[in-house]
Amino acid sequence: MSSEKAAALFVVDLMQPGDLPEILAIEASSFRTPWTGGMFQDELQAPHARCLVVRAQQAEKARIAAYIIFWLVADEVHLHNIAVCVDFRRQGLARNLMKLMRDIALAAGAGRQTLEVRESNTGAITLYHRCGFVVKGKRPRYYDDTREDALVMWAEVRQNGHHE
Ligand SMILES: CC(C)(COP(=O)(O)OP(=O)(O)OC[C@H]1O[C@@H](n2cnc3c(N)ncnc32)[C@H](O)[C@@H]1OP(=O)(O)O)[C@@H](O)C(=O)NCCC(=O)NCCS
Repeated sequence: MSSEKAAALFVVDLMQPGDLPEILAIEASSFRTPWTGGMFQDELQAPHARCLVVRAQQAEKARIAAYIIFWLVADEVHLHNIAVCVDFRRQGLARNLMKLMRDIALAAGAGRQTLEVRESNTGAITLYHRCGFVVKGKRPRYYDDTREDALVMWAEVRQNGHHE
């Protein structure tokens, strides 16, 4: 880890339209088929969507280190997107964003959490397991680019924040 990384101060904030150029760069380096700017704009306007970023403050400059987008739908939360800039990975940012999603969802009365993940994305699957998710199903050939299966994962959380 560089000393520059160690000096970063991380702050969670609402995603703004002006963040999209930086977010699209992180998307491009994180996903085989990245979301487009239009897809992010749609999420920013969707009433059930919550769009958060982590800003890394380093030497008076702020960069986007990570983001998460999820939907609150009745008593469920659906994770739509999460990514961490390669410079800031393995520092717990994704795990903390997942905890924040859980807390926001619980405050809104949503204790059931779900997501889809590529079967080959072992890093993300490990993260989700550590956040209390278990595989409950599979969507065959869900991803158009590789025809890969999606794992459908769920977690149930009680009001005290502990996973069931
Ligand atoms: C998956 C991703 C979001 C993880 O972000 P991160 O901030 O590096 O993750 P964290 O530091 O919070 O990791 C928490 C734990 O998850 C697991 N984990 C995270 N990334 C991992 C990896 N690449 N390999 C194995 N385990 C991993 C580890 O158990 C880790 O704890 P540890 O560092 O103490 O071992 C990030 O690698 C990323 O942006 N990937 C590309 C986008 C993506 O795949 N998003 C998910 C789509 S479903």
